[in-house]
Amino acid sequence: MKTGLLLGMLVGGSLACLAADLAQPVEPVATWIDPDDPSVAAIRQTGESLIDRVGYMMIYEVERTVADKGLAKAIEVVHLKDLSLPKPQPGQPRVTAIRRTSLHLRNPANHPDSPDRAALSVIDSALRGGNDVPAVLVQKVENPGAPAEWRVYRPITTMPLCVKCHGPVEDLAADVRTQLALKYPNDRATGYTAFQWRGLIRISMTAPEPAVAPPAKQAGPAGGLAPVNQPAKLRP
Ligand code: HEC
Repeated sequence: MKTGLLLGMLVGGSLACLAADLAQPVEPVATWIDPDDPSVAAIRQTGESLIDRVGYMMIYEVERTVADKGLAKAIEVVHLKDLSLPKPQPGQPRVTAIRRTSLHLRNPANHPDSPDRAALSVIDSALRGGNDVPAVLVQKVENPGAPAEWRVYRPITTMPLCVKCHGPVEDLAADVRTQLALKYPNDRATGYTAFQWRGLIRISMTAPEPAVAPPAKQAGPAGGLAPVNQPAKLRP
């Protein structure tokens, strides 16, 4: 098998995991898409511009909240708890989720699912291998009985301010340590230095509905997206 990977397989770690076990919940099947594939241009564009905005808002919120309330109180506020999804625009991909995840979680609600874990592992392996880290990852995720979900991921790094709550435990201010221990007893998101890979921002989308129904005979992509023929290998 080449790289049209069933990511569940990678993540499951063994082929045995694929054995049909009806008692197990069905894992989504994810396929890598070359981000430069023109058929995903709209998905990538929507995903990346929203990631830009979310990244900016995250930094702005941290800076402002820490300045207004101090670090320990800011722990109750961050990150972007009231973030709402953008309104669907006709002919554009529809955003269905905005998520953050990481290999080292603070908030268990941010836990990665199997396609997320595969994306985390691509970045992790690139870093470990000393290779270039992809700036963007695109996946098509299929869940039985649901429309295909398109995901755009981008890695995020820590800035010096982030380390005040995500740095080594012994360097955190005492009230920050206390608050974190109280609210996040299983916190794994400490020990970071500035400019380290922290995790991923992910935007999930469904393909746009066609504005006008295509002529009956025309064979072609539904929803303005070409079918994915050859999932591409990600460059490291
Ligand atoms: C005031 C303390 C504080 C600062 C400063 C801070 N964080 Fe966080 N961070 C948190 C808390 C609390 C959570 C868990 C709540 C949540 O899910 O948003 C969290 C969660 C996260 C997560 C989600 C993954 C997880 O571990 O649950 C990411 C990614 C993240 N932070 C990145 C950053 C980045 C990047 C910065 C700097 C721009 C930053 N943080 C600055 C407190 C902080």
